Amino acid sequence: MLHWPDAWAYTGPLEDLASLPVDEQEARTFPRDEDGEIIAADVPLESAWRGLEALHDDGLARTLGICNVDRETLERVREFARVPPAVVQVERHPYRPRSALVAYCHDRGIRVMAHSPLSAPGLLDEPVLADVADARGATTAQVVLAWNAAAGVVPIPSSVDEDHVVENAAAAGVRLAAPERARIDALEDPGFER
Ligand SMILES: NC(=O)c1ccc[n+]([C@@H]2O[C@H](COP(=O)([O-])OP(=O)(O)OC[C@H]3O[C@@H](n4cnc5c(N)ncnc54)[C@H](OP(=O)(O)O)[C@@H]3O)[C@@H](O)[C@H]2O)c1
Repeated sequence: MLHWPDAWAYTGPLEDLASLPVDEQEARTFPRDEDGEIIAADVPLESAWRGLEALHDDGLARTLGICNVDRETLERVREFARVPPAVVQVERHPYRPRSALVAYCHDRGIRVMAHSPLSAPGLLDEPVLADVADARGATTAQVVLAWNAAAGVVPIPSSVDEDHVVENAAAAGVRLAAPERARIDALEDPGFER
């Protein structure tokens, strides 16, 4: 998967990142100037995609994907791609459901993954989610994951807490009724930013 449609400055090989302190990981993966602005590199998206296609040609990747795209950028990639994106990964949660992008992808057989599904500030404390969770004998995190799955979207929560990992996997067994999904849909916040 291409992490970002824009190219950023090369900071050296990104190996064993997890063994580094978090600020060092951030500095390597998000190169910024003194003003805190991302340092871009002059690599057009089409060239980056050709690089991924070369991996596909060599049999190193069966399918290709792209992250953090809007619909316009995705359309552009589909126009020049010889191997089109099979997966799109974007931030998605009830505050930011990305419904038009999800519909666009699903209409074209592209699988959507929801990154950062649980970590929007305040999300897991939403009374509506707590209410649905109580009714279902689930947790608010499970309700958010089930809401994604009900839309045909694959949520990818992360956790370093064993109980949370088990809880998140068990969300696959939580089914939401249409009125419950509608209540969660109503949490959409068009001004959501982070
Ligand atoms: N493509 C991209 O640009 C992009 C950007 C961001 C993230 N991602 C990917 O998306 C995945 C998730 O991202 P993320 O870690 O930023 O966000 P996230 O999964 O939304 O949130 C993780 C946070 O939620 C907590 N959590 C997890 N399960 C929970 C539960 N059942 N109940 C309560 N809290 C729970 C975790 O704490 P505990 O550890 O204490 O459970 C952690 O603080 C990762 O694989 C990441 O690599 C991709």
